Amino acid sequence: MQIQTLFCHNSLRNLIHIFYDESTNEAICVDPFDADQAYDFVQKNKLQLKYIINTHEHFDHIRGNQSLKEKTGAQIYSVNGVRNIDKKILDQQELILGNIKIQFFHTPGHTLNHISFLANDENLFCGDMLFNAGVGRCSNGGDVTTMYHTFQSFFAKLPGSTKIYPGHDYIENNLNFAKQREPSNKSLDLMLGQAKSLRGKDQFIVTSMQQERSYNPFLRLDSKEIQERCQSIDATPEETFKCLRRLRDEW
Ligand SMILES: [Fe+2]
Repeated sequence: MQIQTLFCHNSLRNLIHIFYDESTNEAICVDPFDADQAYDFVQKNKLQLKYIINTHEHFDHIRGNQSLKEKTGAQIYSVNGVRNIDKKILDQQELILGNIKIQFFHTPGHTLNHISFLANDENLFCGDMLFNAGVGRCSNGGDVTTMYHTFQSFFAKLPGSTKIYPGHDYIENNLNFAKQREPSNKSLDLMLGQAKSLRGKDQFIVTSMQQERSYNPFLRLDSKEIQERCQSIDATPEETFKCLRRLRDEW
C-alpha cells in the first residue's frame, strides 16, 4: 500500500491523502478539498480512483467530492450531513480495496458525525480529531466533552506503531503551542526542529502514536508541567483536556 499526501496551500492548510494498492493501481482519496489537485495525482500515477472518503461534513473536507466523482466515477463514502453520497459510513464497517483492508470508527468530537479509519491496521486517517501535536476545534458543530471521551475510548488505545494522517498541516503551530504548555519537553524540541526544517517543502512528516504521545499535550494529560501551567494541578484529566482546548482556541 502506498500513501501520498497533497498540500492544498489554502488558508486552512488542508491535506488530501490518496492511497492505493500498487498491484492493481486502485486508489482511495480522503477529504478532497481540491478535486483538480487530487485528479492530477491520480492521472499522473495512472491510478483508478474507486472511492472518495470524507472524515466529516465540514466544507473544506467535502469541497471536491462531486467534481472528483465526475472525473473518475469514484463512489463517495461519507457521513451524516453530506449530500449526494453513495454510502453512509457506519461504525465498525469494513471496506476492502485490493490488498488494503479499511476499518471505520465513529469518532465524535470535532463534529458529532466524525469518523476515522485504519487502513491495513496501522495507518490512521483521523480527519480533524487528532492532528500532529494537537487536536481539532470543537466550535463548529462539535463538543469538547464528547471529544475527550473519544480520545479515551479510541485514540488512547491505539498501538504506538500506528501512523497518523490528519486533515490539516498544523504541525508547527501546534508544536509552538505545545512548547508554551510544556517548555522542558525535549521530544517536542526535536520535532519542532524537524518541522521547521521542512517548512514550505510540502513534505508531510508521518508521525506515530508513540511519537505523538511524547509531545502532543492533549495526549499528555498526566504531565505535571502541563497541569501546572493550566493552573489545575488537582484537575482531572478531562478538565486538563478542556483547559488545553480552550487555551488553544484563544492562542
Ligand atoms: Fe473540520
